[in-house]
Amino acid sequence: MYRSHHCGELRATNINTQVTLSGWVQIVRDKGFMVYVDLRDRYGITQLYFDTERSSEALMQQAQKLGREFVVQVTGTVIERASKNPNIPTGDIEVLVKELSLLNKAKTPPFTIEDHTDGGEELRMQYRYLDIRRTPVKNNLIFRHKVTQEVRNYLSKNEFVEVETPYLIKSTPEGARDFVVPSRMNQGQFYALPQSPQTFKQLLMVGGMDKYFQIVKCFRDEDLRADRQPEFTQIDCEMAFVEQEDILNTFEGLTRHLLKTINGVEIKEFPRMLYDDAMRLYGNDKPDIRFGMKFGELNQVAQHKEFKVFNTAELVVGIAVPGGNRYTRKEIDQLIEWVKRPQVGALGMVYLRCHDDGRFKSSVDKFYDQDDLAKWAKITGAKAGDLVCVLSGDKHKVRAQLSALRMELAERLGLRKPNEFAPLWVMDFPLLEWDEDTERYHAMHHPFTSAKPGQLELLAHNPAAVKANAYDLVLNGNEIGGGSIRIHDKETQAIMLKYLGFSEQEAKAQFGFLMDAFEYGAPPHGGIAFGLDRLIAILGGQETIRDFIAFPKNNSGRDVMINAPSPINNAQLDELNLKLKA
Ligand code: AMO
Repeated sequence: MYRSHHCGELRATNINTQVTLSGWVQIVRDKGFMVYVDLRDRYGITQLYFDTERSSEALMQQAQKLGREFVVQVTGTVIERASKNPNIPTGDIEVLVKELSLLNKAKTPPFTIEDHTDGGEELRMQYRYLDIRRTPVKNNLIFRHKVTQEVRNYLSKNEFVEVETPYLIKSTPEGARDFVVPSRMNQGQFYALPQSPQTFKQLLMVGGMDKYFQIVKCFRDEDLRADRQPEFTQIDCEMAFVEQEDILNTFEGLTRHLLKTINGVEIKEFPRMLYDDAMRLYGNDKPDIRFGMKFGELNQVAQHKEFKVFNTAELVVGIAVPGGNRYTRKEIDQLIEWVKRPQVGALGMVYLRCHDDGRFKSSVDKFYDQDDLAKWAKITGAKAGDLVCVLSGDKHKVRAQLSALRMELAERLGLRKPNEFAPLWVMDFPLLEWDEDTERYHAMHHPFTSAKPGQLELLAHNPAAVKANAYDLVLNGNEIGGGSIRIHDKETQAIMLKYLGFSEQEAKAQFGFLMDAFEYGAPPHGGIAFGLDRLIAILGGQETIRDFIAFPKNNSGRDVMINAPSPINNAQLDELNLKLKA
């Protein structure tokens, strides 16, 4: 038996009990005639105690020789500590060791295995198994387990059935590039790893499964960010015989359940916002509504004066920064520099100070009088003591720029409180999105999404105006889920694919299996997928999903621990009939 208790378990009530513990040596404090060792396992830390009075010389020496991260087993008696440590649950006791066996020694770890480590990100990723021994990382993985468990509880209780779908499939377009796998048995042919199980879950509806879910890995070859990994996990769901309202209610239920069981938070309101309004009021399809700072469009009041920059702009738009009038000139100049960084891309920023005496001072006073400026303040909702920041230019660009500024300022002002939760449905997304690179429309959600009733006809002459039965779930400014009501008949699917630029042949080759299935009694259906990693990070009060993934990839898509991707040998290449370019 390696242990009778774990290292987080013993309390004063265990005093005088004989125990056996196993774990890792966190630290050895050698005081000469007394030795203290902190023994750690997943559950906590227990102090081990040795002294010259009660321990043999051999045992003392054994203890003194222990190094950090050695794996040991000890047997001894629980005794009361002379000086207690109120900071840890086992702080009232220690174990007076009688026997110590070394289970395995360890090299000195490349960074300290403590809550605040001296190891940098890259080093910790290289030795991720050591990083996982640290409490914050370990706790994140346990937290992930709890959230996943609650997801399964809720969905199972609501009659969803978890079905596994294959990983070696054919490309399903979700807007990213595919990761492909060469087939040895079918030379020159490739599987694609799923960007999502989208078509399979629809086929499960045709198969009559009615309510499906899967906690499933998805693979997307796209640019990586704090909230994006090349392989990530979805809570993928689909339901038959449902309308949008049924789906929103079901998954509002799941979100409420998670916030309640995981965070102890009861969500009072679960608002809905149209995509067009989200873009107009927040410049963004995933607005953080924990704070205000809504956009105020100023074209009416700022154009047709002498200020050329505004006159030629498609959109002039501002936000009020609460208390921002206290910023010094230098601080405002820094904000202007911030919006001009290439990552944001604004050409400049006009500002308006709202003084306490009701007067205004702007950076464009030459062109606007107090009455004009009062209108700016009114439209942006600015009060005395606020600062109004105004950007102008191309509508799409300027909205994105002001949205970035809004988030940055909110962060600086402490308005993005990690333990406050504000979910939001964003609804009625456009069906299509213009792609500058390929100069054609592509599906904003995916090609299986249905248009709002009666809008399909619009496709021919005003494709940009067609709205979809598509919705996103936003939590604290992050898109944590997205879904739609699907097309469930062959004809409509064929029309959709035609508008997306697929020839009849291409459509048949790529999606023939789905369209064929639609001919055998496909029920009306729809669904959603949550990004599980994002959801977990946000419930955990953070936004970097890497911290909640056991073995994540870095921003270049590499696993630096196992050093992947890596070349394969010639024999393997030959077997696959693949040749590397010289
Ligand atoms: P969508 O593409 O919106 O929908 O993806 C669903 C959710 O998955 C998360 N997500 C990611 N998380 C981490 N890293 C990534 N690279 C990444 N990409 C997406 C997001 C997103 O909201 N098949 C549809 C769902 C459906 O229609 O039912 C789909 O995959 O949180």
